[in-house]
Amino acid sequence: MEMTRRGFLAMQAALAASMQARVSANDRVRAAFIGCGARAHELMEAMMAHPQFEIPAVIDAYKGRVERAQDRIRGRRGAAPRVLKDYREALADKSIDAVVVATPDHWHKQMVIEALEAGKDVYCEKPLTYRSSEGLEIIAAARRTGRIVQVGSQGMSSMTQNHARELIRGGKLGKVTMIRAAYNRNTASGAWIYPIPPDAGPETVNWEMFLGPAPKRAFSLERFFRWRCYEDYSGGIATDLFVHLCTTIHYLMDAKMPARVMAMGELYRWKESREVPDTLNAVLEYPEGFTVNLSSTFNNQSSSEASFTFLGTEGTIAVGWGELRYWPENVREDNRWIVESWPRKLEEEYWKNPKVQQEELRHLNKPRLVDGGNVWREEGQDATIIHFWHFLNSIRSRKPYWQNEAAGHHAAACAHMVNESVKAHRMVEWDFALDDIKRG
Ligand SMILES: NC(=O)c1ccc[n+]([C@@H]2O[C@H](COP(=O)([O-])OP(=O)(O)OC[C@H]3O[C@@H](n4cnc5c(N)ncnc54)[C@H](O)[C@@H]3O)[C@@H](O)[C@H]2O)c1
Repeated sequence: MEMTRRGFLAMQAALAASMQARVSANDRVRAAFIGCGARAHELMEAMMAHPQFEIPAVIDAYKGRVERAQDRIRGRRGAAPRVLKDYREALADKSIDAVVVATPDHWHKQMVIEALEAGKDVYCEKPLTYRSSEGLEIIAAARRTGRIVQVGSQGMSSMTQNHARELIRGGKLGKVTMIRAAYNRNTASGAWIYPIPPDAGPETVNWEMFLGPAPKRAFSLERFFRWRCYEDYSGGIATDLFVHLCTTIHYLMDAKMPARVMAMGELYRWKESREVPDTLNAVLEYPEGFTVNLSSTFNNQSSSEASFTFLGTEGTIAVGWGELRYWPENVREDNRWIVESWPRKLEEEYWKNPKVQQEELRHLNKPRLVDGGNVWREEGQDATIIHFWHFLNSIRSRKPYWQNEAAGHHAAACAHMVNESVKAHRMVEWDFALDDIKRG
């Protein structure tokens, strides 16, 4: 769905109405949660902001998390959801319309495809895939079944990012040829060394259920609770964080995929119980005519970098979380130091040229005020609530939102290209005909 300014205002009005709506039972969308971890609990809160959603069932591989999910949903809605032993029970239940997949990444493809085949609409957390080729399988399944897939990079549903998109599309930045985007942290938790609940052990954690399609390994609470640190389940910074950055860049720039990617990654500091880098730099080149620098370090977060900086010939925007700044280009550079080295006569003639006077001496003439730019801050509902409003709309209208299976495939595939480049120490290319990473 295209999001114009008018569209966005209409969306806001509808969102406000939706949250006050009284809904009859058959208007409701019944969505089961597959995975009830840290993100799923945020998603439950956001979903329950919409009275049209019900959460009748939850599934998780750690007992403590289903208990908390029951607690949370009972607290908000008065009744606790059923706890199912396996996600396939939710897929077999005809009274369930949709599922939220919020498990570790190595499970996403299988759960999404099985849910689509079972006739469910799917909200899948980012990254949609664990490997690039899985995206093609998911796209085929969505096409075959006619069900909705929405992917969970919620930032693009925020007002901030939609306003940035309008500015770019309206030509306010001129031609954008360079984008910088970063995601920096400096804590153990930021580096995914999360605390492990004290009651976790073989009685409360279902290890086989967690492993699923991943290689068999001995029971490990570190792997279970800090799965982002291990390659069997995650692509580290690229699939966890760059995927958000790429989703936004594709949305704001109307871009599909980079043709070429080069990246370097290193593990400098968080070496315990970890395989993936804590520092990553990547360059992505887009056929739409711009280059992207993505970077992330888990060893410093004081840098004043905004999350995104879009650099255009006429202006710049910096997009942070909940804040947008715009400033126009104000370039003052003349050729004085060049022509002062010419023979005097030629220099004098140069300055007499009317074109030079207009272009180079303009700022010396009349004093004037120039546009110093703008700052906007976003208030109100969290982007995840808005993101779910779009999911609800798609379920009802049967029209997919912008962040559908193709958008999810492409954002995740950028991350897979980054990781492949890091490992292979070479440039990785995209095959636009195949819609997958170029091989051979
Ligand atoms: N959009 C965002 O801003 C955002 C933020 C955080 C996480 N995420 C994404 O959400 C997903 C979950 O991340 P998290 O931080 O909540 O991780 P988490 O480890 O806290 O939660 C994952 C849960 O999945 C459960 N699980 C594992 N296998 C299962 C199975 N077979 N059936 C049911 N449950 C199973 C685990 O027990 C665990 O509780 C990831 O894909 C992550 O990338 C997105």
